[in-house]
Amino acid sequence: AEVVIVPSEHEAGRLVGDAIVDLIRRRPDAVLGLATGSTPLAVYRHLAERVRGEDIDVSRVRGFALDEYVGLPAGHPESYRSVIEREVVEPVGFDPARIEVPHGDLDGIETAGEQYEAAIRAAGGVDLQILGIGRTGHIGFNEPGSSLASLTRVKTLTEETRADNARFFDSPDDVPMHCITQGIGTILRARHLVLLAFGEAKADAVAAAVEGPVSTSAPGSAVQLHPHVTVVVDEAAASALT
Ligand code: F6R
Repeated sequence: AEVVIVPSEHEAGRLVGDAIVDLIRRRPDAVLGLATGSTPLAVYRHLAERVRGEDIDVSRVRGFALDEYVGLPAGHPESYRSVIEREVVEPVGFDPARIEVPHGDLDGIETAGEQYEAAIRAAGGVDLQILGIGRTGHIGFNEPGSSLASLTRVKTLTEETRADNARFFDSPDDVPMHCITQGIGTILRARHLVLLAFGEAKADAVAAAVEGPVSTSAPGSAVQLHPHVTVVVDEAAASALT
């Protein structure tokens, strides 16, 4: 992987946001892989600024979110459908009909994974996949132990990840137990992976992903199997790299 150390999240947002603008200019119907959580927010903010400031046509861009909680009521503000609408679709001006999020409703959950895989395939695959990484080493919500060949399916969140995401909910007990996530195999099919991480808390997960043995116990290490990976980290997140 190419590792880029940036002075701030803001700089990372600029670097990756600019790369996305270049992609969209080259390919107006580009397919983006979208992460949620705090990490990519600077990217989405910079992208929104450039699109608004320069009148870039994003009307044909398609997007696929990495994951969704299972069983939240429709329209829950912390469902990743809602988060993607609020943080990405509205500010950037994407066509909401072209931005997909896995279906986390219990009704139909048995087939939701397969449907999502089919939708990504039908779109021609993901051109640029934005990834964050969890303290557990997860990418998407593929927690340690996830098969490196896995496709979109329902998974159980670890207690650590539920605790980390409790900040978005009224009470820690409100964080769903289950999620539906693109698999590691799904993620590896994207043509370019951009893994972002900021802060000391991510340093060990970043080191394991970039320098550790490729192993299901460090799901992020699967990026080493991919020929085109850019890792964008601040000094703190890079601090455990040798
Ligand atoms: C989000 C996702 C997760 C997050 C990870 C880091 O769609 O799939 O892998 O990227 O949990 O979360 P933040 O960025 O909130 O630290």
